[in-house]
Formats: sequence, structure tokens, C-alpha cells
Amino acid sequence: MLQMKNISKVYQTEKVQTHALRDFDLNVDEGEFIAVTGPSGSGKTTFLNIAGMLESFTAGQYMLDGVDVGSLSDNARADLRNQKIGFIFQGFNLIPDLNLFENVEVPLRYRGIKSSERKERVMHCLEQVGLASRIKHLPQQLSGGQQQRVAIARALAGEPRFLLADEPTGNLDSLMARQVMELLEQINRDGATIIMVTHDPELARRAPRNIQIVDGQIADFTLYQKPTAVPVASVAGA
Ligand SMILES: Nc1ncnc2c1ncn2[C@@H]1O[C@H](COP(=O)(O)OP(=O)(O)OP(=O)(O)O)[C@@H](O)[C@H]1O
Ligand SMILES: [Mg+2]
Repeated sequence: MLQMKNISKVYQTEKVQTHALRDFDLNVDEGEFIAVTGPSGSGKTTFLNIAGMLESFTAGQYMLDGVDVGSLSDNARADLRNQKIGFIFQGFNLIPDLNLFENVEVPLRYRGIKSSERKERVMHCLEQVGLASRIKHLPQQLSGGQQQRVAIARALAGEPRFLLADEPTGNLDSLMARQVMELLEQINRDGATIIMVTHDPELARRAPRNIQIVDGQIADFTLYQKPTAVPVASVAGA
């Protein structure tokens, strides 16, 4: 599904050049669930943003479903992104002036889905994350964990085949984090390919494949067996 070959990303600011990714190689098959770990500043968000076509890359080749992303126009790239990709951002990226319902509805509007279907999908996604009773709330009227769940509902609303999640449990307590992980596992079983950045080693271990990014490169691959629903709490206590 996704193939990256020798991808590099250099950020050039006035005086400093940062190599956020260097010769980055990765193949991801349809239906995989991959956890990405690594130190702060190692390039995890940069990798996700490039994978999701939010950011360009400096060199290398990126193929998504057989399409050479580097050769696409801005419009073609945006279309592909809207069709295929859902994002859960590190800092939520909710729109402050829109209520919960409207925030979750945004990607559906982009796709031109009609109003009655939008309503049904938005409510279904908000129910999945346990916030259907708060559709009129603004983001600032919610806790961090609740905002995180709205961001997840918004990513789900577009029924993406490819879900990219940057620290989706970073602001949640361990119970809530586990519930979010279970939600992601369900979405993966339903067919979406997922790449999740996390600092939580116990959550990472639940994903069938882990990659570690250090200094802009893949430092380590670990392939775990499919987890047999081991509760995180018991793993942590072991
Ligand atoms: N827009 C930018 N301009 C300049 N440098 C940037 C920019 N975005 C990221 N960087 C640099 O690129 C490197 C990789 O950043 P990135 O955000 O990918 O790290 P990360 O692994 O996601 O870290 P964290 O765990 O803290 O979120 C860092 O050194 C960062 O300072
Ligand atoms: Mg990051």
C-alpha cells in the first residue's frame, strides 16, 4: 500500500539545516497496524505528515497505492488525501469556533457528502467515542481527553482506509488510553491500515509491528504476534 524509498526531509531555517528524515525506507501492507516509537525530535511527526501528504519531502520516492506521490499536482494530492487518509493530530487541531458536531463534520463536507448522511455518520462516530450527548459543546468546553476523542471521531467520519495517528493517547489517563487503543484495534479489524506514533511502550507492544525512529532513520523493527487481547493493565503489572 505504502512504499517509501530513500525519503529525506530537510528543514531549512535561517541558520540551521535540520535533517528530519534521512534515507528513510518503509513498506506498509494493506491492513497492517504499525506503532512508531522513538525519542522526541527523531522525525516521527515528519514521517506521518509526509505519509499523509501534508508535507512535501526533499528527496526519495513515495508510492501510495501505486501512485507516485511526488509527481502529483497540489490538487491531485489533496484529493487523494481526502479520499483515503484520516488524521489524528498530536495537538488535536480542532476548530475552536465550531461545536463538536461541526468539527467532526468537516472532512465530510470536503467530500461533498449530503447533509442527511453527514448527520448519521457524525452521530455514529461521536457515539463510538462516547460523546454523542455533547454535540453542541465547543472544544474549549471539553477536557483534553474529550478533545482527543473528538479528534478521533473526526478522523473516523471519513471512513479512511489509511489512518495516521500522532500520539492519540498522549493526553489520556491509562484507562482512557486503553479504550482508545481498543477503538483503533476495532477500526483496524474493520479494514483500515493504521500507523500510530506513541510514547507508550505497552500500547506499542499491542500493535503487530513496531518501528523505532532514531535521528530520522528506522533504527529497529520488531514484529510481534497478533495480540490475543491482553489487557494493558496486566501487561504493565507483569
Ligand atoms: N517546520 C519545521 N521547521 C524546522 N524544523 C522542523 C520543523 N518541523 C520539525 N522540525 C525539526 O525536525 C526534527 C523532527 O521533528 P518531528 O516533529 O518530526 O519530531 P518527533 O519525533 O515527532 O518529536 P516529538 O516526539 O517531540 O513529537 C526536529 O529536530 C524538529 O525540530
Ligand atoms: Mg511529534
